[in-house]
Amino acid sequence: MAAAGAKSEVVICPDAAALAAAAAERIIAAAQLAISKSGRFTIALSGGSTPERTYKLLAQAYKSRIDWSHTWLLFSDERCVPHGDVRSNYHLANESLLKPGNISPRQVFSVPTDLGTPAQCAAAYETSLRRLFDFTVPVDSSRGGHNFPQIDLILLGLGDDGHTASLFPGKPALDENRKWITWSPPGTLPPPVDRVTFTFPLINAAREVMFLVSGAAKAGIAHEVIDGPVDIHKYPSTGVKPQQTLTWMLDQSAAAQLQKRSQIQT
Ligand code: 6PG
Repeated sequence: MAAAGAKSEVVICPDAAALAAAAAERIIAAAQLAISKSGRFTIALSGGSTPERTYKLLAQAYKSRIDWSHTWLLFSDERCVPHGDVRSNYHLANESLLKPGNISPRQVFSVPTDLGTPAQCAAAYETSLRRLFDFTVPVDSSRGGHNFPQIDLILLGLGDDGHTASLFPGKPALDENRKWITWSPPGTLPPPVDRVTFTFPLINAAREVMFLVSGAAKAGIAHEVIDGPVDIHKYPSTGVKPQQTLTWMLDQSAAAQLQKRSQIQT
């Protein structure tokens, strides 16, 4: 469900390989547009396993089509484990995109997971993003209104329970509306570790959000979230309403139960 006036699109691809290629093409287009308009492209990488094929394409076959020196890579969420741990979202991105793509570490804003409590890690990540977006002084929330930066593109996955990033059903992080970054205890799905996550207001301040959803196991939840009503405490993904564009990208297996079909990717 996109914000009022925003564009919402459902793109269905024949299979996981076609989904990865179509997602990579759209990321390249978003990068080229952002860099031509503002001189830089900010993208938040999703965790989970689905984006891996897309990251590999961006790092290898499609590498030359993005100006990586003007691209800043953030993380929509992170597990509170060391970056070398296979459960780390940084580890997935590093192995599939950052290392093979030879992307300079200065372009990458990873979530610190070694600074003590998850709350301390979340606060440190927010501070680093405030520097990136030059929001060094926190907005005086006593006067109401909170400034959030407009990230050009946020990639998100869809959990079997309807979560996205690390915004899990029934958890307090769902109601955080002042911070950019917060933390969450584990949800019901593995791995059972604390998380650091983007908040809804940061996600919804984005120019575009792109969900990548693949596989028959996601067909039921995709239908509930895309076709059903907004209920962020039951299905947090229904709370994603970016400013301009919400793009759902699915393969046919994941889209099998969808009623809203706006475009079939050949
Ligand atoms: C995480 C992710 C999470 C993920 C979904 C989908 O840290 O686990 O950020 O939100 O995107 O759970 O995961 P899959 O792509 O593995 O199905």
